Amino acid sequence: MRVTVFGCGYVGLVTGACLSELGHVVECIDIDADKVATLQSGTVPFFEPGIDALLQNKNLSFSTKATAPDLCIIAVGTPLAENGSADLSQVFAVTDLISVMEKPPKAIVMKSTVPPGTTAKIAARTGLETISNPEFLRQGSAVQDFMQPDRLVIGASSKRGFALMEQLYAPLNLPAERIVNTSTNSAELTKYAANVFLTTKLAFVNELALYCETVGADIDEVTKGIGLDTRIGNQFLQAGPGIGGSCFPKDIRALAFQSKALNHHLEIVQAVIASNDTHQNAMLQKIVNMCGGSVSGKRVAIFGVTFKAETDDLRNSVSTVIIPALQNLGAKITATDPMGMENGKTCFNGVEWKKDPYLAVESADVVVVLTEWELFRKIDLARLAEAMKAAKLVDLRNIYTGDQARGAGFEYDSIGRAGSIKG
Ligand code: UDX
Repeated sequence: MRVTVFGCGYVGLVTGACLSELGHVVECIDIDADKVATLQSGTVPFFEPGIDALLQNKNLSFSTKATAPDLCIIAVGTPLAENGSADLSQVFAVTDLISVMEKPPKAIVMKSTVPPGTTAKIAARTGLETISNPEFLRQGSAVQDFMQPDRLVIGASSKRGFALMEQLYAPLNLPAERIVNTSTNSAELTKYAANVFLTTKLAFVNELALYCETVGADIDEVTKGIGLDTRIGNQFLQAGPGIGGSCFPKDIRALAFQSKALNHHLEIVQAVIASNDTHQNAMLQKIVNMCGGSVSGKRVAIFGVTFKAETDDLRNSVSTVIIPALQNLGAKITATDPMGMENGKTCFNGVEWKKDPYLAVESADVVVVLTEWELFRKIDLARLAEAMKAAKLVDLRNIYTGDQARGAGFEYDSIGRAGSIKG
């Protein structure tokens, strides 16, 4: 098939590159001419494992203008608007471009995350077959997630729509039970439901972790105990400093906004948003407590600014809350991150950057782990402790054990474990 993907961000680029691997002829379109030129030269403008090699595919091209494809896939951003709604201006701008194409495509495929009802609106606006096909790609493993998806969700309103999508994804050879054919509204809501469910799971684990500190339990033991229940599952149970990334915080707020606008209050959704904010404040308090009640004049070394490991992305990362909050309290910040330093430099003011974690802790009063990079897991803790002004470690990803850290000479705090200082 001839496919045009609108938007060369994480989702669009991974989608386009993977579809060309599946044998389709794909052009990826972006209004940012610099980004297109970068991609034409074979360079990926962000870090995503496995994507670079796919750019060599002869069936894949980049342009600022679309030609005449069979399918138009919309993969542009739907950021949060000021009022908390999903800003659909990019989606509608692309839709308008598609409606004036000389030869209309057989269908429009909506990959961007949009509130239920949007795909139907676009069908009405363009008069074209419009299909909802949400993505479930995780940054850091997006290529693998595309090629070996848990499931495909296809929302269409005609047999022809489902048939087109069957043709598009046939090379994946997915068993029928992994393909969920639905209405467009159900497909759109499935995307929000998945992300909000996972966010809820994490917010619950984070709350539980702090409750462990109150009742003298250990979160790693508790999550192991519940995770073995197959109804619960053992994934997405790792306590952390709070939920970040380009999707979860945005999607949960967009769903909250839509439900409010429809006068249908989703109480759990509201509670999860509040819980995550409270949790991030508790994490800040842990750092302050480790510094004896005040960080004023103290140097804090931050290990990891990206929202998780294996990405260079800082969007809605907890670091973007914790670092400015520490600075407001008078702390000086040195930060290190194996992939996030370039983006970090444009994101924060007044942060000193060090490539080498051992240099980052020099003259620091405390080191705080915000991202679970392998590099930090493998670090020589005794050498780290020695390099610091004061050997204090706040591990907000629980990547070390108390024995390891204390054995290396650290005063140590983590989340929800024996010896944790209450957050
Ligand atoms: C997410 C969804 O997983 C993906 O399906 C969707 O399409 C886009 O949003 P992503 O944002 O790449 O993907 O990150 P994910 O790996 O899901 O992590 C989200 C946040 O949860 C991160 O802040 C991460 O650190 C945190 N997390 C995840 C935990 O704190 N503990 C866990 O056990 C898992």
